[in-house]
Order: sequence, then C-alpha cells, then structure tokens
Amino acid sequence: EWTPAAFVEETVQSLRDQLGDDHVLMGLSGGVDSTVAASLLHEAIGDNLVCIFVDNGLLRKDEFEEVLHSYKDMGLRVVGVDAKEAFYEELKGISDPEQKRKVIGRVFIEVFEREALKLEEEDRAIKWLGQGTIYPDVIESVSVHGPSVTIKSHHNVGGLPEMLNLKIVEPLRMLFKDEVRLVGTELEVPQAIVSRHPFPGPGLGIRILGDITPEKVRMLQEADAIYINNLRKFGLYDEVWQAGTILLPVQSVGVMGDERTYEKTVALRAVNSRDGMTAEWSRFPHDFLATVSSEIINNVKGINRVVYDISTKPPSTIEWE
Ligand code: XMP
Repeated sequence: EWTPAAFVEETVQSLRDQLGDDHVLMGLSGGVDSTVAASLLHEAIGDNLVCIFVDNGLLRKDEFEEVLHSYKDMGLRVVGVDAKEAFYEELKGISDPEQKRKVIGRVFIEVFEREALKLEEEDRAIKWLGQGTIYPDVIESVSVHGPSVTIKSHHNVGGLPEMLNLKIVEPLRMLFKDEVRLVGTELEVPQAIVSRHPFPGPGLGIRILGDITPEKVRMLQEADAIYINNLRKFGLYDEVWQAGTILLPVQSVGVMGDERTYEKTVALRAVNSRDGMTAEWSRFPHDFLATVSSEIINNVKGINRVVYDISTKPPSTIEWE
C-alpha cells in the first residue's frame, strides 16, 4: 500500500544513492509540484540543492515576496530574480495567446539560463537539474508531441537541461497531484503552498486578453487578490479546484456618483475538476459573488463591471487563452 511516509523514506534514500555529492539546480514556481520536489531533494541532499525563483511580473499580488519568504523559512537555498522588466519589454504589443506563451517561455529560459550559468560558475559540483514533473505531465507531454492536436502549448522549458549540460532528476514523476499534496504535508511544506490552486506557468499573462501592460497587470492583481481573499473568507477556497480573474479587452459604460464611466470588465472563473481535463463551473452562493463584485468595482480603479463565467470544459477551456 502506498503511503506518503514510505514514499518519502524510499525516495530520499534513492536520491542519495543517485546523486552522491553532486549538486542540483532547480527552478521554483511557487506551485505545489516544484515546491514539494525541492523539499524532497532538500531532505535528501540538504544545501547541495540550489534554487532559482523568477519574478516574471505575471504572478499574483505580493506572491513573489511571500513565496520567497516561505522558501527561506523552509531552509531552502534560493536565489530570487526580479525579471519583471525583461518580460514586460518582450511582451509589448503581443496579443496572440500562443505567441504570449512562446515569449514568456523564451524569456524565462533566457533569465534562468543566465542565473544558472552564474551559479554553475560558482559551484562546479552542479550536475543535475531538478524538476517538479508529475505523472499527468509525463502523459501530457507524450500527447503534446504525438499526433493529437496541441490546443495550448503548456510546457515551455523543454530545452533547458541540454543548454546547461545538466542531467534531469524528477522525484515526483510517478505521482498524481493528490499524492504530491500528501507528500508535501508529510515533509511539512507550509499548508498555504500544499493546498494552493494550480496556476499556469505564463501566469496572469494569459488572463489579460489582448496585449499586456504593467498597468493591466496591476489592475488584474488587485481584482484577483479580492477574489481569492474572499474565497478564503467565505470558506470556499478548498471547495474549488482552481479560481482566477480574467481582464477582458472591452470597455463598457457605468455610472459612479454622477459621473459616467467607460471602463474595463473583469470575468471571474472558478471550476471543479479532478485533473483539469474536464471541468464544471463552480456553483457559488450569490452573496459571495455580490461581495466580490462590489469590492472589485469599488476598489479597483479602471474596472466598472464584473461577470461570472458559467462555461463547462469541454467545449470551453478553463483559461480564456
Ligand atoms: P485549460 O485552459 O487548457 O487549462 O482548460 C487546463 C489547466 O492547465 C492550466 N494551463 C497552463 N499551465 N502553462 C501551464 O503551466 C500553460 O500555458 C497553461 N495553460 C493552461 C490551466 O490553468 C488549468 O489548470
């Protein structure tokens, strides 16, 4: 029978056998998978694990600072890299969803590679690249490269290990998400990370329809924070599989005091799902939706309308891009 305790014990032992005194470099995202993978590696090899966490300017509000802080509390050796400007610069004027993914993936690789080369220079024992790949990713990347049509190109860091001349170590490769969460709990990874909703690699970049500007990111971060904080306040956060806000490229008329406004719309999305392959929109209480809507409209400058997405996957997808 599979238990998280036995998995941790066996995996730590086999990582020690596999890695010896080699050092491992790992990119962290703030998500469950990379954090649990890092925690497992840290348990096995301690400070021979070196991590990089990149701020791409498309994270949730305050997420970079908060997550970096948690990583340090966990005892991880982590370098935080503020690359916001590089991402905003390269994304200027780009509206096509797949093009955004490509640019975000490319800039990430450039930033990561630059930092990794610095670390490799300082630490000649780095021989491995750690990755938080889980079983559904393994399956999906097979179908992504297979004959089936790619609907959205999810995995955008393919070429890194070759460029850095590193071997890959993926301790979660055989696990499903719920098992990863149990392993995280076993390793005492903070619950705020273990129970976190999935969040796409390109982040808010694919939740801003149309082109991306720092001002739109700020607006969406504010709206998103109000939504997520209220999910927690109403005890709904753990009831849904994923939730987020989408900034729509439409303006509509509103009235604020005796002023006519002509501002943007935010859509709220929340789904129940097991694996993200199919999803049902979450049936939220109306008073929750009312609270979120009025808080967003009253507090986020530039937004005068909130709508709720009631589309099922398929035929819709979870993200709008
Ligand atoms: P869709 O929109 O395809 O999303 O129904 C299914 C799940 O995948 C996430 N997603 C992504 N994750 N890079 C990622 O790492 C991406 O480009 C990407 N696009 C979608 C989405 O958030 C949902 O959990």
